[in-house]
Amino acid sequence: MALEIIRTVNGIRKRVQKLKQAGKTIALVPTMGGLHAGHLSLISKAKDVADYVVVSIFINPKQFNNPEDLDTYPSNEEADLHNIEKLSADLAFIPSVKEMYPDEFATHVKVTAGIDILCDAHRPEHFAGVATVVTKLFLQVGADFACFGEKDFQQLFIIKRLVKDLNIPITIIPAPTIRENDGLAMSSRNERLGKSERLIAPQLHQIMQETRKQINAGMAIQMACKSAKEELESAKNFKVEYFEVRCGENMTLLETPQSDCRLFAAAWLGSVRLIDNISL
Ligand code: PAF
Repeated sequence: MALEIIRTVNGIRKRVQKLKQAGKTIALVPTMGGLHAGHLSLISKAKDVADYVVVSIFINPKQFNNPEDLDTYPSNEEADLHNIEKLSADLAFIPSVKEMYPDEFATHVKVTAGIDILCDAHRPEHFAGVATVVTKLFLQVGADFACFGEKDFQQLFIIKRLVKDLNIPITIIPAPTIRENDGLAMSSRNERLGKSERLIAPQLHQIMQETRKQINAGMAIQMACKSAKEELESAKNFKVEYFEVRCGENMTLLETPQSDCRLFAAAWLGSVRLIDNISL
């Protein structure tokens, strides 16, 4: 069946209502476009859990704290629609900025758990922007399931919490990070890496894997992270924002290994910010 495209909140509500009346379950894959294999794996996951898959495409201005990042964020609706259609998702929901944020818009959703650390310490207001748009998408679409990648682990943590706290009737389905063959975590921003940066970029993940090995072999977490950071900065030209181990369950910083440990990293390579996380 041909891909359906809806651009209004009224339109998506009516469509989903009809599907629900017909007994269908619906999964939402929220995206900002620039679709890559990571998004496509979320669409496949969505197809596994529900009868009908809605992919939203909305570059959410409220989650960009850097205007240049917003201006240069990859946007190619035609290519995105082609990819969505290839995977036989059922519907693309593509609201405009005016549709999402009319002039009088004055509400923000801010989760106060899992913040002030990792990305939130470096991108103030980013997660309030994410929480606001995701809450709106959940309420607009009314899906039974929503799929999110573990690459943005802190985002996933915050979204799970907002669903719980606001009693939104939706099940969050996490999906593993999809990587290039050389280990680089897929991201729409990877397109902006220059040729030589692209060659260096996978070293972030390689050094994270080495750090995991060292910690699992008994090296102190702080020492392993400090030496990884130094290696990335001095030998590889990264500018590290954070490189630390936290509990994946409640995000507390860990100095000794425990179950559900994750290593989190963010680093700049030129003007591109890379993030990644792996379990220990
Ligand atoms: O992960 C993303 O692409 C975005 O943060 C999301 C969840 C689509 C909200 O704009």
